[in-house]
Amino acid sequence: MSRFWSPVVHTLSPYVPGEQPKQDGVVKLNTNENSYPPSPRVLAAITSAAERLRLYPDPHATRLREAIAAYSGVAPEQVFVGNGSDEVLAHTFQALLKHDRPLLFPDVTYSFYPVYCGLYGIAYEEVPLDPAMRIDTAGYRRPSSAILLLCNPNAPTGIALPREAIAALLAENPDRLVVVDEAYVDFGAESAVPLVARHDNLLVIQTFSKSRSLAGLRVGFAIGQRPLIEALERVKDSFNSYPVDCLAIAGAVAAIEDEEWFIETRARIIASRDVLTRDLGQLGFEVLPSLANFAFARHRSRSGADLAAALRQRGVLVRHFRKPRIEDFLRITVGTNEQCGRLIEVLRGLI
Ligand SMILES: Cc1ncc(COP(=O)(O)O)c(C=O)c1O
Repeated sequence: MSRFWSPVVHTLSPYVPGEQPKQDGVVKLNTNENSYPPSPRVLAAITSAAERLRLYPDPHATRLREAIAAYSGVAPEQVFVGNGSDEVLAHTFQALLKHDRPLLFPDVTYSFYPVYCGLYGIAYEEVPLDPAMRIDTAGYRRPSSAILLLCNPNAPTGIALPREAIAALLAENPDRLVVVDEAYVDFGAESAVPLVARHDNLLVIQTFSKSRSLAGLRVGFAIGQRPLIEALERVKDSFNSYPVDCLAIAGAVAAIEDEEWFIETRARIIASRDVLTRDLGQLGFEVLPSLANFAFARHRSRSGADLAAALRQRGVLVRHFRKPRIEDFLRITVGTNEQCGRLIEVLRGLI
């Protein structure tokens, strides 16, 4: 604390990211990173781009926006890129979500959303997940609200809504913006991107951090109709002209072009998720039906906090949230079969 702080700084409750351990040998299943490395083509592209480090990158990241647009079936003008989807989300909050009426998002969801509301002074209301921890779209029929923000599949539950549920929300709310955070969509859920052409009230946000194994490179993007993208560009160009550096542009383009690598690593993660779900079930866990690269599970007789602490002591990191409704759950990233096997072995010893 200091008398030099701007007043808003006193009021912030910053987001706390999952631990990044310094020591080797830890089984790291706590931050939903991909358990496989990025495509070798990414590393080659980054090495070659390093020759241009002397120069500023393209402020519009044109090559990357074109690659994302071609992959997603939209125009490059409908794509906004940023320094990780966290930055894209932050610009979205500032550019599009601050209105007289409150923003709505689920009571259990990505815990950065309320942090951005605090930073930008945005009022919000939480809509409870149903008893099975699913997003209940009927709960979003609150005329007093201005905007809906959904994470699909939701984090940390992993449960996804079908595209038709998003389409129904859009049709029901033509004058309210619907933002869908699809950080985990590639692991089996249906993207809302095909709905962008028909709905000027939809913004979809995705990332290269999860399914493209590039959490360390920091590339995220939004897809929406041109006026929404223009709002994001106006905020970005009032903040930082070069949020995506030249290595990130080159690496992300190479990642999106290596479809074979993407399909192969994604298939492995989905197969490991099935095995992990089965093994956790056999140990007495209730595992929510995840379409993400993590499982959200609680044991019928052991507390989440105790299990997370005991796993940590034995070199296995998982994520535990001390929050109402979910304090008995563990969020476990789907690792390689070997990593998941180690987790199950340690849990078997504990339970
Ligand atoms: C739901 C959700 N959205 C967005 C992000 C941010 O991802 P990144 O900034 O790495 O793109 C995360 C990261 O874990 C997430 O879980």
